[in-house]
Amino acid sequence: MKEMVEAWIYEAGEKIRKQLKETLYIETKAHANDLVTNVDKETEEFFVGKIKADYPEDNILGEEGISDDVTDLAGNVWIIDPIDGTMNFVHQKQFFAISLALYQDGNPLFGFVYDVVGDELFYAEHEKGAYLNGERLAPLKEVVLSESIISFNTDYLYEKPGLEAIVKKARGIRSYGACSLEMAFVATGRLDGFVSDSISAWDYCAGKILVEEVGGEVISQMHKEVEYLKKERLIVANPALIIELVKACQSQTV
Ligand code: IPD
Ligand code: CA
Ligand code: CA
Repeated sequence: MKEMVEAWIYEAGEKIRKQLKETLYIETKAHANDLVTNVDKETEEFFVGKIKADYPEDNILGEEGISDDVTDLAGNVWIIDPIDGTMNFVHQKQFFAISLALYQDGNPLFGFVYDVVGDELFYAEHEKGAYLNGERLAPLKEVVLSESIISFNTDYLYEKPGLEAIVKKARGIRSYGACSLEMAFVATGRLDGFVSDSISAWDYCAGKILVEEVGGEVISQMHKEVEYLKKERLIVANPALIIELVKACQSQTV
């Protein structure tokens, strides 16, 4: 199954790369900066078609809502973000990803994050490790905050002023605008932590498997356990940093 899904992802990636050179039809969703394009919708349709043909009993939770109305995670649920980082896709033509995960009764089976322009395929299978372009990723090494790079949305600073302490103490701060890739970067050690507000299952479900397979942690700021069917605020990090990041997110001042 892994090889087949991987082939779907490469096929979808090839279509997206071709469409980058064509006219995009851009609409807005919840607000003026929440973008969706014809390519987001067509890519989700492509995956829905493939999955429904081979696994008609399975449910699909996709960002563009082209398939099922998923109200619980019973059975097999495919969780898809056809383009994670649509603003990057539209404005920068790079740094966006296909994110696809399969969960069974709420438990992870496998996840893929594919950086379409960078041609990096991140894959993880529950309890079988995480891989980048077929090479197994090493378990995360211990890090200290003063030598760490942390990623978050800079507008999140207004809401979580305690994060200013992280800005001061960390070696560097980044803000990439593609949740799934930022999580994949934590899994590779390119980033040591990632903090995000208001994200949905399709943004983080594949990334969560990647991070956990290398010994990283994914913690909800809102619930005891991550709640896949609600909007989440996640802290994703090397375990050596998680307590400091949790404290920073809880604190109102520096
Ligand atoms: C968005 C990206 C972004 C995150 C947003 C997501 P989209 O996904 O992951 O980094 O900050 O919350 O909605 O809309 O580009 O698929
Ligand atoms: Ca997304
Ligand atoms: Ca998306």
